[in-house]
Amino acid sequence: MSQMTYLGHSAFLLQEKSSRIIIDPYLSGNPLAVEKPENIKVDYVLLTHGHGDHLGDGIMIATDNDATVIAPNELAVYCSKQGCKVHPMHIGGSFNFPFGRVKLTIAFHGSGNDLGGEAMAYMGNPCGFLVTLGGKIIYHAGDTGLFMDMQLIGEMNKIDVALLPIGDNFTMGIDDAVKAAEFLKPKLVVPMHFKTFDVINTEPVEFQKKAAAKNIQVKILEIGDTLVV
Ligand code: NI
Ligand code: MN
Repeated sequence: MSQMTYLGHSAFLLQEKSSRIIIDPYLSGNPLAVEKPENIKVDYVLLTHGHGDHLGDGIMIATDNDATVIAPNELAVYCSKQGCKVHPMHIGGSFNFPFGRVKLTIAFHGSGNDLGGEAMAYMGNPCGFLVTLGGKIIYHAGDTGLFMDMQLIGEMNKIDVALLPIGDNFTMGIDDAVKAAEFLKPKLVVPMHFKTFDVINTEPVEFQKKAAAKNIQVKILEIGDTLVV
């Protein structure tokens, strides 16, 4: 059993016994966020890709807490150059950490970050995460479009909670996210990556209704809500 707190956008705090893990901590830049990055106490920072709304406060949180960044190799190398402890991984790879297992899945998206230079900083391929924590499997899809391999991910993993983007424009929209949930067959879906910006202003209740019509259970978390997984 573990606890999952929604911190807004695609940011989640996972806690199991003494382990604390944060995923895609976009807090100080998110006007909807209720938690301040300086109040976050974690051992691990998981980053799906280098976009500002996912890398977010990750480097500050990792260095302040002496926490380890887990990310695709190129993004991990970037974080290492910024002074973070890192554990680089890559798509398809998994590793047993003290808190549980992490596997990187594909995500169809980008990962460059405009840091002000002439060219965008290259941060490799984006990913999703399968996190096994307290005997439960949590799938964080990252930013991605719908892809057929979600069927395979669902077939090979008994997913307890799937965190899926529904905001459209940059990622899957509502209808594609419903299809993703049909592929993944999780016990529960939590929508993410909506409302933060004008162009991703989709309605989670509409997603919930369309998913219910396919017998998929959706839990809409308010920012700051905690779910026991
Ligand atoms: Ni992105
Ligand atoms: Mn994003």
